[in-house]
Amino acid sequence: MSSLSHRYYTTPIYYANGSPHAGHVYTTLLASILKRHSIARGFSCKMLTGMDEHGEAVEQRAKEENKEPQQLVDELAIVWEQSFQRLGVNYDIFLRTTSPAHIANVQSILTQCFDKGDIYYGEHDGHYCVRCESFLTSSERDSNDNCLVHKKPTEKRTEGNYFFRTSKYKNQIKTLIENKQITIQERFSNELLSILENLEGDLSISRPKTRLTWGVELPFDKSHVAYVWFDALPNYITGLGGIDAARTSSYWENVSHILGKDILKFHGIFWPAICLSLGIKPAKLLVTGWILKDGHKMSKSLGNVLSFTDIVYYGKDMFTNYVFRSVNPGEDIDVSWRTYFERFNADLANGVGNLLSRSLSMVEKYFERKIPAFIPEKLTEDQKNIVFVSSSCSYKVSKQFDDFCLADALNEIWGLISLADKHITEAKPWNLFKQGDSESMIYLSQVLAVSIGVLRIVGCLAHAFFPEKMIELLESIGEDTNTTQDFYDRCQDFFAIKSGHIVTHFPKLFQRIDIEAEMMRLQPFENAQQPKKSSTVVNECSNKSHTLKCAGVENDSLSYVSIEDFAKVDIRVGRVLRAEVVEGSDKLIKLLVAVGDLGEKTIFAGLRQWVNPEDLANRKVLVVANLKPRKMKFGVSEGMLLATDTCQDRISPLFLSEDFKDGSRLS
Ligand code: ME8
Ligand code: MG
Repeated sequence: MSSLSHRYYTTPIYYANGSPHAGHVYTTLLASILKRHSIARGFSCKMLTGMDEHGEAVEQRAKEENKEPQQLVDELAIVWEQSFQRLGVNYDIFLRTTSPAHIANVQSILTQCFDKGDIYYGEHDGHYCVRCESFLTSSERDSNDNCLVHKKPTEKRTEGNYFFRTSKYKNQIKTLIENKQITIQERFSNELLSILENLEGDLSISRPKTRLTWGVELPFDKSHVAYVWFDALPNYITGLGGIDAARTSSYWENVSHILGKDILKFHGIFWPAICLSLGIKPAKLLVTGWILKDGHKMSKSLGNVLSFTDIVYYGKDMFTNYVFRSVNPGEDIDVSWRTYFERFNADLANGVGNLLSRSLSMVEKYFERKIPAFIPEKLTEDQKNIVFVSSSCSYKVSKQFDDFCLADALNEIWGLISLADKHITEAKPWNLFKQGDSESMIYLSQVLAVSIGVLRIVGCLAHAFFPEKMIELLESIGEDTNTTQDFYDRCQDFFAIKSGHIVTHFPKLFQRIDIEAEMMRLQPFENAQQPKKSSTVVNECSNKSHTLKCAGVENDSLSYVSIEDFAKVDIRVGRVLRAEVVEGSDKLIKLLVAVGDLGEKTIFAGLRQWVNPEDLANRKVLVVANLKPRKMKFGVSEGMLLATDTCQDRISPLFLSEDFKDGSRLS
């Protein structure tokens, strides 16, 4: 098979010194989306993600936690892998740099570069940022020699190191950049050219073992370990089976590295230099901007994160639509909760979700659940226009994907929804049905057929972004949901809807979110002047209605709380006396819970989407009884109901058997 039929997407491999946050989720979902899209277009795809497990920052973190580095990274790898699986990330390779295959590959690459004369020994002198794992140039530091990215002091260091002759490849790399063979995004090509211009000397690629032992030993000098970037970058090749396998791999021919602009220099200058030394083609880069909160880059060290828990709590689709609809990858995204919710309501709940509900309910009411057929000669000019725009959409979207303009693609797709919505509204289906004559009924059937046609195309095109929901959509209108073979090609035939299919499933794809209620709930976060520090399990979750849910892998499982801290949390057995919906909120349930000698407590729980109030009455539950009462729009909440995920991916309160005594304390 030719290389043109293969595509290989990689994310950065993340430092094993913390747990995932929105920035990591962003790049990882991006790779996942690109892979899904490419598969739908018939490409053979592989996706790699993983962990960067060596280096000083990891060693330091292990020391802080009183652990061996290997133990720390083993624990973290589980947290990260489970987190990505939870988000439905469809990676093929989860690469860990402490794996024997990777260590062997790095050593083999070091040997080849050394034998070629591209590695030599020398002295290094400069300002080092441990977070970046890098010596910083003057333009990368402020006037106090703090790292501009991490806002932390750098260390002045002098040491004997091995160097890689980046300078030897400067001209070749310059040509590659100018020919758009490194990055297709112009602004990053320009940035790379200016970095290249200012590049000082060669790249230091080793650390003496006297200072760092947690790394890959240099095959030609056992008293040094490889610098973490020289260890990390070859991971993309390890993923394909090592350097020799990569040389002949069709996947390598068509590789795209997805990365944040913070690590552009490593991927756009050092990595191409290493590839050139090895005689393999330098990879293409897809560079993303940063997710910002109040103008600051979210990062582990600054701590101002949109946490993994937040993403899971509101659902990955809300996150996906927000980050990929807002800007094309490459630009920064400043997160505001209000627009986070508004976009969800506009595009997903009131957009595609509503068009589907609306269309299916008309199929039910007016056509006995049977999807009507097209009668092409009866189509109006308006309808022909919708058919035309929709049929050409897949072509545009694939071009936008190839140009890495995913926001434009989503915009295009959601544009179809607006067209169909407008058409239905103008057609006034209810009046047509009331008139009931054959002309009106034919027109009504065409309005519906067009709307189903649009939904079908949207289902195929948006599947890369929202796989589970779009499958649900397609199933409901009787479509074949094999997403690999010709999935994308199907979009070209607008008329190929499943006429005659009897609709049996009426999915409500996205529940509208009550923005004001959510903003109230989030107020303590939004008003906090200090960015949240990487918090303990309890702190992290105190604003959520589902604490136990947060105690799983999605959280910073390594931020332990002391037994004393845990003892401060008063968890009690309670009995639900009353449970009712809250008028004006589609999220909250109001509970009255008897907590033994603590009396009765009113608790608002955000579980409306998951449970019926009737099913709560008289049940034994667990509540956090000493949570500071919180004033909410609908009243004061005096505690928290504990809930967690079920195997069906729903959220349920933890119900206890009758054996447990009301008011007894969990210990
Ligand atoms: O740099 N917004 O790992 P890392 C957007 N191990 N993306 C963000 C982000 C933010 N606020 N924060 C992080 C390393 N990212 C190295 C990589 S690769 C051979 C070695 C994403 O854990 C973004 O893609 O610091 C960034 O480049 C990456 O996470 C850095 O993750
Ligand atoms: Mg970083």
